[in-house]
Amino acid sequence: MTIRAVVKGVGHYLPERVVQNAEFEKTIDTSDEWIRSRSGIERRHFAAEGQTTSDLAARAAGAALANAGLTVDDIDAIVVATSTADLTFPSAATMVQARLGMTRGFAYDVQAVCAGFVYALANANALIVSGQVRRALVIGAETFSRLMDWTDRGTCVLFGDGAGALVLEAHDGSGTPADRGILSVDLNSDGRHRDILYVDGGVSTGTTGHLRMQGKEVFRHAVEKLAETAHTALEKIGLSGEDVDWIVPHQANIRIIEATAKRMQVPMDRVVVTVQDHGNTSAASIPLALSVGVTRGQIKPGDLVVTEAIGGGLAWGSVVLRW
Ligand code: UT7
Repeated sequence: MTIRAVVKGVGHYLPERVVQNAEFEKTIDTSDEWIRSRSGIERRHFAAEGQTTSDLAARAAGAALANAGLTVDDIDAIVVATSTADLTFPSAATMVQARLGMTRGFAYDVQAVCAGFVYALANANALIVSGQVRRALVIGAETFSRLMDWTDRGTCVLFGDGAGALVLEAHDGSGTPADRGILSVDLNSDGRHRDILYVDGGVSTGTTGHLRMQGKEVFRHAVEKLAETAHTALEKIGLSGEDVDWIVPHQANIRIIEATAKRMQVPMDRVVVTVQDHGNTSAASIPLALSVGVTRGQIKPGDLVVTEAIGGGLAWGSVVLRW
């Protein structure tokens, strides 16, 4: 018998304020046309002043719990993927725990930037299959607007804020890819690429810092590495692109999403795309897209879903699951 971490509920939260591309035309040398054609982004949400990552995360978690028909008393662990925790410490996850009124179990953050949700899913899966917890909340939440240099047109138009969450529950499986739940994981990182995507602040500088990115270089790595990691995760369980019902990719750039789908030989009508509405929300982008994909009626129980992401580190990876 095999234990599987099965998705019991999904939910998301987006801050109220929506910023259209045209708004940036007032302050920097850019255009709606450039942003749309180079990235696929049309609008993004920005958190209100004083609104923090743990606030967005707790709201997404509440929606996922409601969707699962569960309460915090049913949850054993909270794993939050974020690079924009409210404070240097404690973790955003313990703040979410407090916001939800959860006084048992344990909570911690995972930091793998845009690949964070894939890492957090892999981590929560390990907790469940090893029998340490029965149910886990896995959340991706970010306020990347707080890391923007508003004079850098190469980055500030690309990112947004938001949060998405899944409830995972231990179920008995047969050990075959026909099982529901997480079926395969592939994680990678290569610290030699630190300088192409990083924040120039932190504890060592005593500042929060701003996001710095060599877009073209990151783009090149993304196109090469995302299809590869998805392929590896599928191959581990004897599956291929043909078996995939939905790719739910990290939403950074429509051109990366399309190139990855093409390399995986999966048509775009089997890819959940939200980048036009959310921009790049880093670790929040995959759970946001999963939640939107379910709401739209795209992802259904039994579907084979492949998530893949890459970000600062570089860190990248893929999780294959049956919804
Ligand atoms: O989530 C983590 C992973 N992140 C990513 O996956 C992001 C990966 N990279 C990308 O998505 C793309 O590289 C970008 C969307 C960031 C940029 O697209 P690009 O086609 O690689 O453009 P580029 O950086 O090569 O810039 C082309 C031109 C440059 O002008 P020159 O030097 O050719 O005259 C830029 O200065 O576009 C210019 N440019 C802009 N123009 C108008 C850069 N940003 C803007 C802007 N508006 N906002």
